[in-house]
Formats: sequence, C-alpha cells, structure tokens
Amino acid sequence: MKLAVPRESEAGEPRVAATPDTVKKFVSLGFEVSVEKDAGLQSRILDADYEAAGAKIATDAKTTLADADMVLKVRRPNADEMGLMKKGAIVIATMDPYGNDAEVEAMAKAGLTSFAMEFMPRITRAQVMDVLSSQANLAGYQAVIDAAAEYDRAMPMMMTAAGTVPAARVFVMGAGVAGLQAIATARRLGAVVSATDVRPAAKEQVESLGAKFIAVEDDEFKQAETAGGYAKEMSDEYKKKQAELVASHIAKQDIVITTALIPGRPAPRLITKEMVASMKPGSVIVDLAVERGGNVEGAKPGKIAKAGEVKIVGHLNVPGRIAASASALYAKNLVAFAETMIDKEAKTIALNWEDELVKATALSHDGAVIHPAFAPKSE
Ligand code: NAI
Repeated sequence: MKLAVPRESEAGEPRVAATPDTVKKFVSLGFEVSVEKDAGLQSRILDADYEAAGAKIATDAKTTLADADMVLKVRRPNADEMGLMKKGAIVIATMDPYGNDAEVEAMAKAGLTSFAMEFMPRITRAQVMDVLSSQANLAGYQAVIDAAAEYDRAMPMMMTAAGTVPAARVFVMGAGVAGLQAIATARRLGAVVSATDVRPAAKEQVESLGAKFIAVEDDEFKQAETAGGYAKEMSDEYKKKQAELVASHIAKQDIVITTALIPGRPAPRLITKEMVASMKPGSVIVDLAVERGGNVEGAKPGKIAKAGEVKIVGHLNVPGRIAASASALYAKNLVAFAETMIDKEAKTIALNWEDELVKATALSHDGAVIHPAFAPKSE
C-alpha cells in the first residue's frame, strides 16, 4: 500500500495532512509513505522528521503522488494534482463541496474515490475523526488571541498602584465548538464574557464556562436544534427580536467574536453597521464566519476592516494561523479514519461500503459522484 502526502498547493494553506506521529502509524499499518519536500515546513515539521518516522521525501508533487493508493490532503485536490493521481486512488481531505459541484464532478471524472472529512457523522465512534471540531476549536482560541492583539487595552482587570484597568467585556455570538473555546480562552485571559446562541442546549454550556447567556428564549428558540445538533435557520420574526436584544448588548462590549454558522447555508447576518457604529472607539470584532458570507456587516475576507474607530477582523483560514497545532490534530483525525479502511492482517486497503462513516463521507467512486447531496438527481 502506498500513501502520499503532497505539499498543499493553495496559497495561504500552511497546514499539512500528516505529522511524523501519523506517518509512524501508517508505516506500522503496512504503508510505504511518500511525503513531498517541504510539505510540513509551515507547520514547523522538517523533512528530516518525516524521514526519521519512516517516510520517503519526494522532490515534487508528481513523484509524491505517482502510484499512491491513498492520498491525504488538507484541501480538495486541484486539476493538476488530480492529473497526477492514479485512477481508483482514495483521496481524503476537507473537500468544501457545497457550491463546488463541478469540482466534485471532476474528482469523479478523474476516477478518484474521494472522502470529505467535514461530512463525518457526529457520533461517539467518529469523534476522533471530527475535523470540524478539531479545527473550529483552535479557530475559537485563535480568534481571541487575534482580538487581544488588535485591542489596545488589557484583557484582565489589573489593580495597580497607578490605578485600576477594567476587564475587557467580550461577547461571543454562536456557542458551538469555536464559540465555546473562544469563551474559555477569553475567560482565561480575565475578560468578562457573555455569549448567545439559538440552540437551547448552548445555554448550559455557556454558563458552565462562567459566561452569561444572552438570548431571546421564546418557543421557537426551544425547538431550534436539529437532530444532528446543528442550528436551524430562524424565522424573520425571531431574527428581529434577536437583533434588538443584541443591539443594546453590543453597544456595551469591547470585543465581539462571531462564529454563527448553519450547515450548507450562508452564515446568518447578526451584526449590522449600525450596531458596529454603536461600539466604543477601539472596540474589536472578529468574524470567524467571514469565509461563509460573514456574520458582520462590513467584514472583509482576509482583511482587518475599519468602521470608524472599530476594527473588524476578517482573517481567512483561521486554523491555518495556528498551523502547527492545527496540523497535529487534523493529521490525527485523518489517520483515525484511514485506519478503518485497512485490513490489518492482510495489510491491504479494504473499504467497507456498509460502514456508516464511509457512506456519510464518500463523494465520488468508480467515475461517479455518489454522495446523495451532490449526485445527479434521477429524472
Ligand atoms: P456550527 O459551526 O455549525 O455553528 C456554530 C454555532 O453557531 C452553533 O452553535 C449554532 O447554533 C450557532 N448559530 C447558528 N445561527 C445562529 C444565530 N442566528 N445566532 C446565534 N448563534 C447561531 O456548529 P458546531 O460548532 O459545529 O457545533 C454544533 C453542535 O454540534 C454543538 O452543539 C456541538 O456541541 C455539537 N457537536 C457534537 C459533536 C459530537 O457529538 N461528536 C462534535 C462536535 C460538535
């Protein structure tokens, strides 16, 4: 069995899909592992470290991918990369398939058996494979670090001989994986933290982290969670009530971190430009949803925008801003999933198409798009 780990080709992607630890694991499973030169450099992993773990270093993408039975990536392969992969190769990555139907189709045409890690079911067995959680958790942490860096004041209350510096007020919108980590991080830094979410289950989680929960808790709110644990799109009426509550709260905050997402839809718009304008000079907003349309009016993808004296931070690929940690966790997620595809006695790839993890994540196989969300609809 041959495993390939190419260097990520997309600009602005410093993560890598394997670490020396996971390479060791693949070698013990019976793989020959080929890692492209400098693949781990931006995640602080040297070629020599991969070699010491049992990998061969290949000089370019072509040599890395030649004959690979399984390819691990952070991002969906582009056309050039697909051209270097053999028909039937298994490719595991975050595929970002929504809105990219043509790219999914191209993977099918290239004969790849592709898996989208973001479709991993959120069941106990697959927790170790949950890339959304591992990356969102770090993004939530990094959002607070980025906010603190842009904020010209101290986060904790400081009582000094020269006077008292008040604690920063931090408001986190969306208390999923990223939001909960943002709350915990802001609390560790000594901020006074509040948070909101539309899912009732979030209330207890927010409060257990020592933050105040702020939400319109009406009947709609009580039913606003899908069986999968995700948020539903809320009614216009709810959004109006939510906006009124949020508007008065935001005006008193120093830092706002927004993380609100609804799977497969654009991010809900939670902060209007009027709300931004109500904030004090020097306030900072970090919009973690900026890549999915943004929660904040005026957020610019990849930029720190200024709205009067308020900064709106819209960094792209936030997990990539903490790449060494993000790669370590991502690589662990991948090896845990890949391992389920191996017959350990025979040391061969043995895909079990009845496995619910395989069924949920498989995008293309045998020349066709097979995921129900993307497969051509029958007439
Ligand atoms: P996500 O990234 O899809 O969304 C982030 C947060 O935004 C969610 O909490 C969502 O409720 C919230 N949101 C959506 N619209 C909003 C609005 N209009 N106003 C305020 N907030 C809004 O969600 P994520 O972080 O992936 O987690 C969703 C749930 O799944 C959480 O309950 C989490 O604890 C759970 N989960 C379960 C796992 C498991 O059982 N294995 C693993 C990871 C997460």
